[in-house]
Amino acid sequence: MDLLKQKVKEDGVVIDERILKVDGFLNHQIDAELMWEVGETFYDQFKDEGITKILTIEASGIAPAIMVAKRFGVPCLFAKKAKPNTLNQDAYTTDIHSFTKNKTSHVMISKEFLDENDRILIIDDFLANGDASLGLNNLVEQAKAQTVGIGILVEKSFQPGRQKLNEAGLKVSSLCEVASLAGNKVTLVGEE
Ligand code: G4P
Repeated sequence: MDLLKQKVKEDGVVIDERILKVDGFLNHQIDAELMWEVGETFYDQFKDEGITKILTIEASGIAPAIMVAKRFGVPCLFAKKAKPNTLNQDAYTTDIHSFTKNKTSHVMISKEFLDENDRILIIDDFLANGDASLGLNNLVEQAKAQTVGIGILVEKSFQPGRQKLNEAGLKVSSLCEVASLAGNKVTLVGEE
């Protein structure tokens, strides 16, 4: 997706060799036009798949996910980062570890919003180590629903996320693939 690639190149700020800051258009201030295009692009890719719901995780996945959901005409559901509560029988729960933030979140989805008839498209802003998407897929499996695909805005191809998701049998589509952040520079796949 050319507009996203352009934004990543021009407005992305390389923090170090692992982290790209995208606060200008995705993680803090949000470019609505760009999110609209994200919705169009994922709709074109998955429109024949019988998607019933878009699933993401708070916080930064919500902005793109809601635009994708609007385009499909289906609800946008997001996993909440909740306090551990093992007594909650009405929710699917799992732990998701963020290597980037070195933090484990206990996440939940209320059972009333996901069931075996759902065909899910997972949307997230970044793919790094893949644990967020694997955790969301775990919640989908608990509900006996099906993950049809995973749509990512920015994939860091030098990290193992895609491989882990593919090994789990999940189809990944990303709109912008970052090959490297070395030398304080964003290099996209295809530019190396
Ligand atoms: P994963 O997303 O593939 O599971 O990888 P990882 O565990 O390393 O990343 C966890 C969190 O860090 C996610 O946010 C993800 O969006 C964010 N993240 C990963 N790499 C980058 C990066 O290069 N730049 C930025 N800006 N964020 C990155 P989260 O924990 O879900 O929280 P939130 O920020 O959405 O609230």
